[in-house]
Amino acid sequence: MLHTKHNLKNMNDLEQLISPTFGSRELEKSVPKYKLSKNEMRSRSAYQIVHDELMLDGNARLNLATFVTTWMEPEAEKLMAECFDKNMIDKDEYPQTAELEMRCVNILSHLYHAEDEAKACGCSTTGSSEAVMLGGMALKWKWKERMKAKGKPTDKPNLVLGIDVQVCWDKFCRYWEIEPRFIPMEKGRTGITPEEVIKRCDENTIGVSATLGTTFTGEYVNIKAINDALEKFNAKTGFEIPIHVDGASGGFIAPFLQPDLKWDFRLKWVKSINVSGHKYGLVYPGVGWIIWRDWQELPDDLVFHVNYLGGDMPTFALNFSRPGNQIVAQYYNFLRLGFDGYQRVQQASQDVAIYLSEKIDKLGPFECLTRGDDIPVFIFKVKDERNSNFSVYDISEMLRHRGWLIPAYTLPENCTDIAVLRIVVKEGFSRDMADLLLVDMGRILEHYESQPGYKPKTTKSKGKVRC
Ligand SMILES: Cc1ncc(COP(=O)(O)O)c(C=O)c1O
Repeated sequence: MLHTKHNLKNMNDLEQLISPTFGSRELEKSVPKYKLSKNEMRSRSAYQIVHDELMLDGNARLNLATFVTTWMEPEAEKLMAECFDKNMIDKDEYPQTAELEMRCVNILSHLYHAEDEAKACGCSTTGSSEAVMLGGMALKWKWKERMKAKGKPTDKPNLVLGIDVQVCWDKFCRYWEIEPRFIPMEKGRTGITPEEVIKRCDENTIGVSATLGTTFTGEYVNIKAINDALEKFNAKTGFEIPIHVDGASGGFIAPFLQPDLKWDFRLKWVKSINVSGHKYGLVYPGVGWIIWRDWQELPDDLVFHVNYLGGDMPTFALNFSRPGNQIVAQYYNFLRLGFDGYQRVQQASQDVAIYLSEKIDKLGPFECLTRGDDIPVFIFKVKDERNSNFSVYDISEMLRHRGWLIPAYTLPENCTDIAVLRIVVKEGFSRDMADLLLVDMGRILEHYESQPGYKPKTTKSKGKVRC
């Protein structure tokens, strides 16, 4: 039978439709990667190509480098998928998402002991970096108001902070032209102390940044001691230097695991707190939160009012459009877990961190510098580096061959001679997985024992730790 041209085209279509995925023409040749291709391809083929390429990424569940959530319950994933199409900034169009955001802000201000919850305020952000920018800007604007009221110049603001702050603070200082007054580490002292803070404070200090769970070591800074020192210093000088707490990780750990630790709005000079919903808030990336103890700490001229989405919408954010689904997932977690549930999840992570750090210490060649008893994060180094035929960089690389992602880096000034490995334990990393990691570490040590002539790698990380 003769086919018309039209029929032949249909047959071609049919063939395309039923051809096996890896027998199709689209998957037989390479696809253009850096230029838009001329023709479309079947969704099945495009999916397969992208999906397969992504297999070369690390496995998120074995990623012990990141602080960011890598496991959520199926119900949370379902809710998130249901809200992929909602832009959280369209508050008039999606009033319930806006309501859930407001409830989350309320829940957090309560958790952080805001004196008067009616006065506390805040908003969601893309993560702690954006939250830090907003908190930092409020510090700068409030300082300017105070200086202007005294008729003093406002061209030389400074911020007091530890050298071990996350890179978002370096960015904040550079982008907003603020002199960073870094407190270096010393042997035997990693975090910032009240004495070192006060030494650097003056009339131009917009605030002190104190980290609850530092990126480099996982330790808490003694925020109460800094608050008490500032109380005396401010009383003596008449300055009003406030504290912003970077609680990116600790803000979702301390309320549950160290409820008596005073680090939040129970302290007079803590004016604002940032926290990452996508770290120990247990939500997939990217959501963060910024909370002020009192709306008066947020200068009005930082807030913009837009009317083009319908209604009057106040906005304080660096970006505009953003997915609403992480906010929904944060609220889901609050509802699902409650206080006790969060406590159980965080306690489980801390138990694994302490167990693992003890076992790593017992392997012999390593020494843990922190143990995961602040946030469930700890660092360890090679004990006798000079006489060892491997370095932390070798261990990191060997573990990567098995799929484990554990970074090696040097500590900042004045401890740059200390190279460490860091493990972040979070929900989804069970005791059983910790045991599997220990077996792999044991195997790696056996390998180096059999290679006495091997020269250890000395690569140093060039920048700040990636999270
Ligand atoms: C202490 C601290 N602050 C800020 C950040 C930046 O947070 P995000 O990744 O949520 O922007 C991190 C990230 O690890 C952090 O550890």
